[in-house]
Amino acid sequence: MSAEELSVAVVGAGMAGRAHAYGYRQAGTVYDSVFPKIRLAAIADANVPLGEDAARRYGFETTYSDWRQVAEDPSIDAVSIVVGNALHREIAQGLLETGKHVLCEKPLAGNLEDARAMVELEREHGSRTDSAGRPLITATGYTVRRTPALNAIRERVENGEFGPVSNFIATYLADYSCDPRAPMSWRYKGAPGSGALGDLGSHVIDTGEFLNGPITAVRGAFMDTVHKERPLPVGNVVGHAHAEVSDEVEPVENEDFLTFTCTFANGAIGTYTISRVAFGSPNGQAYQVVGPRAQASWRIDKPAEFEYDDAQAGYQTRGPRRVLINPETPLFANSCAMDAPGNGWNYNENFVIQARAFLEQVVGRPSGLQPCASFADGLHTLEVIQAVADSAQQGGREVAITR
Ligand SMILES: NC(=O)c1ccc[n+]([C@@H]2O[C@H](COP(=O)([O-])OP(=O)(O)OC[C@H]3O[C@@H](n4cnc5c(N)ncnc54)[C@H](O)[C@@H]3O)[C@@H](O)[C@H]2O)c1
Repeated sequence: MSAEELSVAVVGAGMAGRAHAYGYRQAGTVYDSVFPKIRLAAIADANVPLGEDAARRYGFETTYSDWRQVAEDPSIDAVSIVVGNALHREIAQGLLETGKHVLCEKPLAGNLEDARAMVELEREHGSRTDSAGRPLITATGYTVRRTPALNAIRERVENGEFGPVSNFIATYLADYSCDPRAPMSWRYKGAPGSGALGDLGSHVIDTGEFLNGPITAVRGAFMDTVHKERPLPVGNVVGHAHAEVSDEVEPVENEDFLTFTCTFANGAIGTYTISRVAFGSPNGQAYQVVGPRAQASWRIDKPAEFEYDDAQAGYQTRGPRRVLINPETPLFANSCAMDAPGNGWNYNENFVIQARAFLEQVVGRPSGLQPCASFADGLHTLEVIQAVADSAQQGGREVAITR
């Protein structure tokens, strides 16, 4: 890192890798200017044409075919890891050993053992500095918590307006695995808990804890798999996209759908329903926060608004009101080129705020944005995931979680 430039790279040019590339491209355009020039240095992907296409679209200078080339490039300061979860540990280790700041996608790792090793890496390298003498940052990417409307609901929870929160209801109903001919990919490999729970559940578990504080116990878990095997793709698979498949099949190792309940430190009960085989529901993420004095809800297909209901109005006009995010609600003012109320919001903008928060940590210039979650936070999510998997394996037994 030089005084004039901060160089960033993305490992993985798939579905979420592109969102990180977009985030870095935009990070210097939002909120107050605290950065040197952000240099879009490199995108690395084993699928070289995919990497080249992403680099061209998002204006990155170089394409690499292997993450090791990013590690070995002394000009690069900060890197996002956006590949299949089983690869996160090895890549994080290689990048930290060569002095890079690391933002790793959720879930932190493919299993608990890897996540614990990554927290060791965080401890070991957290006291080291980059070439400019700045402490190395290790972060886990939880993008949903960057949603302005969810931050507005969180403010209401923290103000005690729900009196207190009694129920938190989270659903994540996705349809990317409905088709039995959808190709085998890294998403279907790994122990119970690494399927819909790891992929989708990591988002909703983090959001639940973002709103209510830590989960202290889970219970009543049940998980199952609809499609027990999948055809192998003929070529590369990107994200949830369909691809040409062969006649050869491999077993699906993890769950398609699940449910569990939990308790939070604030006394709320959480009810979770998660599926990757939910017909007609491409990305149905929704939350409801309920208490004796207020109720709020948000859904990802209407990200720029939330519903809020309390006793503010008399019974003649009482009812849930639709609150559009605006410059008075958190995060929205100066978060995009045209921050006029009513202009809406898009999930991709969350990656901008996340990239922005991460780079603020890297340069040591906090502007009030919440710092990214640490690797230790990422491990905690995997401990909750493991507790859910254990509960399911033991007929729904309660499993306590300590942090
Ligand atoms: N924050 C979010 O909303 C969000 C959304 C989707 C995925 N994710 C996370 O992002 C990560 C990637 O998911 P995805 O859907 O983008 O996956 P993907 O399968 O679309 O892309 C992964 C890419 O990694 C590349 N790759 C594989 N091995 C590599 C290597 N050794 N070096 C460089 N590149 C390599 C593949 O060629 C592929 O293009 C996962 O951890 C996932 O959980 C997060």
